[in-house]
Amino acid sequence: MAVRKATIDTLLQEDRIFHPDTEFNRQANVKHREIYAEARSNSRIFWAMQAERLEWFQKWDQVVDWQPPFVKWFVNGKLNACYNCVDRHLKTWRKNKAAIIFEGEPGDTRVLTYWDLWREVTKFANVLRDLGVQKGDRVAIYMPMIPEAAIAMLACARLGAAHSVVFGGFSPDSLRDRINDAGAKLVITTDGSWRRGKIVPLKKNTDLAVAECPTIEKMLVVRRTGQEVSMQEGRDFWYHELEVGAQVGGPCEEMDSEDMLFILYTSGTTGKPKGVVHTTGGYLTGVATTHHMIFDLKDSDVFWCTADVGWITGHSYVVYGPLANGATTLMFEGAPDWPEQDRFWAIVERYGVNILYTAPTAIRAFMKWGEQWPARRDLSSLRLLGSVGEPINPEAWMWYHKHIGGQRCPIVDTWWQTETGMILISALPGITPLKPGSATVPVPGVEADVVDKNGNPVLLGKGGFLVLKEPWPAMMRTIYGDDQRYIDTYWNKIPGKWLYFAGDGARRDYHNYYWILGRVDDVINVAGHRLSTMEVESAFVDHPSVAEAAAIGKDHAIKGQAISVFITLKSSISKEMDSGAKTRKEMQDELKAHVVRKIGAIARPDDVFFTAELPKTRSGKIMRRLLRDIAEGRALGDTTTLADPAVIAELKNRYEAKES
Ligand code: PRX
Repeated sequence: MAVRKATIDTLLQEDRIFHPDTEFNRQANVKHREIYAEARSNSRIFWAMQAERLEWFQKWDQVVDWQPPFVKWFVNGKLNACYNCVDRHLKTWRKNKAAIIFEGEPGDTRVLTYWDLWREVTKFANVLRDLGVQKGDRVAIYMPMIPEAAIAMLACARLGAAHSVVFGGFSPDSLRDRINDAGAKLVITTDGSWRRGKIVPLKKNTDLAVAECPTIEKMLVVRRTGQEVSMQEGRDFWYHELEVGAQVGGPCEEMDSEDMLFILYTSGTTGKPKGVVHTTGGYLTGVATTHHMIFDLKDSDVFWCTADVGWITGHSYVVYGPLANGATTLMFEGAPDWPEQDRFWAIVERYGVNILYTAPTAIRAFMKWGEQWPARRDLSSLRLLGSVGEPINPEAWMWYHKHIGGQRCPIVDTWWQTETGMILISALPGITPLKPGSATVPVPGVEADVVDKNGNPVLLGKGGFLVLKEPWPAMMRTIYGDDQRYIDTYWNKIPGKWLYFAGDGARRDYHNYYWILGRVDDVINVAGHRLSTMEVESAFVDHPSVAEAAAIGKDHAIKGQAISVFITLKSSISKEMDSGAKTRKEMQDELKAHVVRKIGAIARPDDVFFTAELPKTRSGKIMRRLLRDIAEGRALGDTTTLADPAVIAELKNRYEAKES
């Protein structure tokens, strides 16, 4: 990715501000702003104090060893992640506290206390050990969102084997590539998983993948859907059969702070997926600390992060952060619109969820479906909301605040990445005034900046490249097996300075708040102005008829690029247009005028194209690159990370037939 022009122009103005209320502040885990200055005055002491949240078998003798771009945290410290998430809670009153509340897609439920979790994890670990898994091995996990997915991760950590969780929506080829890159010796899967009432054949997919995976020796299969699957003698084993004779209990491996805890693959725009390596002591310190501070976790809370364990959000804030803190974490297997579009709200009501952490793509879908769905349910248990994964458009923030948070819950918009392991930019809900659309400020102990292509800070109000200036405990250590790619991707883009380059554009306002402008690759260049997709899209989403928008730059002979926007209207508005109450042309003109009013004539799009769905990755991010291919009449580039290939095929046909 070339970093060309020095900065990004910023045009969107957002002035709303929400101050923390006194009640919330009084009970908050972080009540005083001094924490920022304390952390800044000596970040090593700050992080060493945070590491005390964990139980170490042996204390570290150096907090951090920074040899850019390689880092070690809590040098020579010894601990075990599973011990910290499970065993140590048995010594406290939390032994009988709910650790995991589970709801399956068909509506089945399970609650595992910390004691139950310990029993299940130790059994699972003993089964894995009997199948030959040892410290230092890699184990692939390809499972739905069921408690056994978390149990399998913890069991690997217990034995000192690194897990590589592959999202259950990925294809056999994607699974194969990830298994081969990691050289995993065992894969854990299920017979199938539920998806909107249908079965996804995970075991069959795994068979297809493993046929081309020379390192795989064994496959462990957990029963979930109960359909017939074929088992290969000597290679495949049913967990429910091995579990019967398995021993409960047993020790945890003593791991070095820098031993690998897991690999998680993340796709770049080009090339094969990158195996992001996270280690033990720093990662666990980072996720436990941020989970406690940002989500204001109390022992009585039910915490629900809706991410799948196949993503970093699921690793850090469904499993490791919450369990390290002895929290009750909710796992949900299904989709938000099955059997009806109020499924999330039914779950909040049923379990009295207090803290909800979800993604803008889901929030925009809820906006599209309409506020009557959350209105049917009692959401009064909620006290804090979170957002992650993409910039949240200010209007989506306002909708979330009003219709889900009842105008009483703070919203923490959390910026981070698979690579960063933990949240780096976010409000602390008891002390940080909120601005819709801004992730606010770096968390205590994190040093960020917005710079130009030479690494010099840009003026406040100007857009530039988001960088991190100091190492943080949960940062990735390398790309598995490819140190050079790690250096080139994250450290060499801005030469001469050791700045971690996140690949995102950002600006800071006059309060020093960060506004994430989207991926630098997605920036639109109109007549020499570099516009952020986030700002153009937010101006559209600000219009009451629009649920979601994707803006791209399309080649233009004079302007360099012209803006094309793909719009999803709210369901009620689409119906109105279908009935002829308003023509498409009228709606297009109205939207163009709205954006000119919000941003200026520079942002007037040449095209506005209506579509029922936008192409997204399986983790819900809009794939603007494919929209560019369509708008410029090219063959589609790599579509392997696409969630639903039918969406793009239909869009391409309609676009080419000019059917908007
Ligand atoms: O572009 C940023 C966007 O998601 C990217 C990281 O994606 P991934 O590794 O899949 O991790 C997602 C969950 C942590 C970032 O480079 N992103 C993530 N959170 C935000 C965001 N963009 C704006 N605001 C956020 N809160």
